[in-house]
Amino acid sequence: MKDLKSYIRTIPDFPSEGIMFRDITTLFGNPAALKHTIDLLFGHFRNDRVQVVAGVEARGFVLGGALACRLGAGFVPIRKAGKLPHQTIEESYQLEYGEATLEMHLDAFGAGDRVLLIDDLIATGGTADAAMNLIDHLGGDVVGAGFVVDLPALGGAEKLRSRCDKVVSLVSFEGE
Ligand code: PRP
Ligand code: MG
Repeated sequence: MKDLKSYIRTIPDFPSEGIMFRDITTLFGNPAALKHTIDLLFGHFRNDRVQVVAGVEARGFVLGGALACRLGAGFVPIRKAGKLPHQTIEESYQLEYGEATLEMHLDAFGAGDRVLLIDDLIATGGTADAAMNLIDHLGGDVVGAGFVVDLPALGGAEKLRSRCDKVVSLVSFEGE
């Protein structure tokens, strides 16, 4: 198995100039790389008695769904505004580029449930921070947060560690 990083494609200047977009669709598309990714995340969280995986739209759905299945947990979607049909709670946040709002169903899980947050990538940490606020709002017991990619230069994972004991990422890009 090659390094997971080699399955991730970099697209310069997407979606706007100056952004190096780390595209993990190439990793998702490779059966061995996808399986290895889920195996690694499973290894990190298998003993944490996860009851609910909360996955962030959009690529967090792919990872979160597969991982929830492996962990024997349920899956809860955290979506961009206006997509969820039932009553929601919402959080606005700054992205590396632009602003957005995330929503989660008000009855997504119960207070005290053990929740694992999953997304494909952490950059500034704005998305993960907003997602954590949603989970906190429902009284979730956060067991950790997992990402495939960390961009440490943007400081998000470090910031997230101040509110979550277990922050895991599999691949790190440092300006290359
Ligand atoms: C990307 C990525 C993370 C987020 C990380 O998603 O998938 O969710 O940015 O950035 P942050 O740590 O600076 O908040 P994006 O908002 O581009 O949307 P998408 O996943 O729906 O494509
Ligand atoms: Mg995203």
